[in-house]
Amino acid sequence: MSGDRFARSSRTDQNAAPIGLFDSGLGGLTVLRELYRQLPYESVIYFGDTARLPYGDRTPAQILQYVREILAWMEQQGTKMVIMACNTSSALALETVRSEFDLPILGLILPGARAAVQQGRRIGVIATPATAASHAYSQAILEIDATTQVWEVGCPEFVPLIECDRLHDPYTTAIAQVYLEPLIQQQIDTLIYGCTHYPYLAPILRPLLPSSVKLVDPAVSVVAAAAQELDLLALKNLRPPAPTRFCVSGSPRTFSQLATSWLGCTPTVEQVIPAQMAQPAT
Ligand code: DGL
Repeated sequence: MSGDRFARSSRTDQNAAPIGLFDSGLGGLTVLRELYRQLPYESVIYFGDTARLPYGDRTPAQILQYVREILAWMEQQGTKMVIMACNTSSALALETVRSEFDLPILGLILPGARAAVQQGRRIGVIATPATAASHAYSQAILEIDATTQVWEVGCPEFVPLIECDRLHDPYTTAIAQVYLEPLIQQQIDTLIYGCTHYPYLAPILRPLLPSSVKLVDPAVSVVAAAAQELDLLALKNLRPPAPTRFCVSGSPRTFSQLATSWLGCTPTVEQVIPAQMAQPAT
């Protein structure tokens, strides 16, 4: 899986190479938005694995397999760094795949955990069932500060509701109330969006929470960590960025339509079939 791309390409080529961002679907766009804000000179390849979402209902072995396929493909596209814009992949696969690929790979859990302990002591995490069951957030938070308390809640319905464009459906608010209730009971002071889809729910979640609860979006911290890493590796782009390339495994049309309101423009979207991703580079 690893290659000698760094050895072969010139320093300028490496700097101009894109950053790879991937998620199961629309969620990673919340990380992309943050990347545009903090790293406006970087080119990006975005991949949404829409044919196989939601990842949150998948087994750890399936998630690991998908992540390996996507990273091999990202490597073939010549990315200089990959940000897993997906908490589920970060929780279940990051540690394993980091040593398998010859490029920097960043995940959301540690940056999110670090940001949360700076905010509070009673930390709630809303996440996909797979992320919540992995306890990746509670482990990371308690390793940083063993005196904090953490409660993780799996929210199986959120991703399908967001991907089906049902943000404004009263049902979404009703189910949000159910998911938040145990965290409100525990009197959390901080809530982590433990899934990159969830910042879209801010207008629904904020009014359901006491105003003192601080919301943490790990996207802010992972992009800050990416910026630091690019500096460290002298890999920042020095030229104007290329337009973002959007690829999905499912319907490009559906993704393009749904992404329009989040991006403020209608993206051109290519389809990449997962079975073809796994092919070795020629
Ligand atoms: N947005 C992803 C995450 O951060 C995956 C959601 C899903 O497909 O279940 O976990």
